[in-house]
Amino acid sequence: MKQVLFVGDINVDVMMGGLECFPVLNKEITCTSYETTMGSSAVIAACAYASLGGATHMLGLAGNDAYGNFMVEGMEALGIHTDMVRRTDRVRTGVTVNMTMDDTRTQVTYPGTISEFEGSDLMAADLEPFDMMLFAGPYQQTKFRPEIARLLALAKDVGVQTALDPQWDATENWEHMNEWLPLLTYFFVNEDEARSLTQVDDLAEACRLLTERTACPIVKAGKDGALVSVEGQVTAVPSWPVDPVDTTGAGDSFDAGFLYARLEDGLGLVDAVRFGNAVGARSCLSVGGVNAKTTREQAKGFMEKQRW
Ligand SMILES: Nc1ncnc2c1ncn2[C@@H]1O[C@H](COP(=O)(O)OP(=O)(O)O)[C@@H](O)[C@H]1O
Ligand SMILES: [Mg+2]
Repeated sequence: MKQVLFVGDINVDVMMGGLECFPVLNKEITCTSYETTMGSSAVIAACAYASLGGATHMLGLAGNDAYGNFMVEGMEALGIHTDMVRRTDRVRTGVTVNMTMDDTRTQVTYPGTISEFEGSDLMAADLEPFDMMLFAGPYQQTKFRPEIARLLALAKDVGVQTALDPQWDATENWEHMNEWLPLLTYFFVNEDEARSLTQVDDLAEACRLLTERTACPIVKAGKDGALVSVEGQVTAVPSWPVDPVDTTGAGDSFDAGFLYARLEDGLGLVDAVRFGNAVGARSCLSVGGVNAKTTREQAKGFMEKQRW
């Protein structure tokens, strides 16, 4: 089985759903549902990959606190190897509080371990055991971000494939992107990220422009599925219709599905995007990023059922 290393943020998502009204300054309001779940782009992708049945490893920083234990134990319960997860007393495990009402989501993040994670000590020998590395969410990882170009080049030297899902860059400067793109095997972005990066509105054109900068861009387009460039030709792959409950982590679950389909089932790019779309769509059917726990058989059954 191919060994996949997920690299990035480790944080908890506190989900508060059904707010009675929008948050009001200096007032207390109530909500109708509350759940603490594993969050963060890298961990959600790792959990989705492990649920599909893939050999999954995590590299990141967690606090020496209750939420750090919650994250590590939660990953281990899904069979994720956590021996490369570092622990710290300096800061606490990152937390995002998500407040949702109708189709709005208001978030407050304590970055903690997310911005404190760093990787200047990582060497070729640390990467060699893996077949694929996914870097996720670098724009909140202020200390780790400057290491990524070096690690991508190292991975290339030792024959490890790489993928990156940058998530949103609040500055929209997309620092280091020009160093990263030429080194990657796969590059995942959503519609907003693709538009901001290329300064082009049309998604197919944005995907085509990215093809000039990276080997295989994949542009995720929510309920419209995703676009992928195959031999210079941009192909739109439709999604699987669902009635979403919560779209947190859909993109990270998509990444895991796509990588699993490529690495374990040897699917072509378009079929791998179709499989990623199915894992992404299924993730929209439960609250939080990690609760769908889609297995390979469930994803296949879901696609079979939706076809009719
Ligand atoms: N409403 C939806 N219906 C069906 N599939 C969806 C829906 N929202 C997301 N997905 C699936 O999840 C993938 C990622 O979602 P998207 O919102 O584009 O990314 P991100 O979560 O990174 O912003 C999409 O490409 C699609 O396959
Ligand atoms: Mg995303």
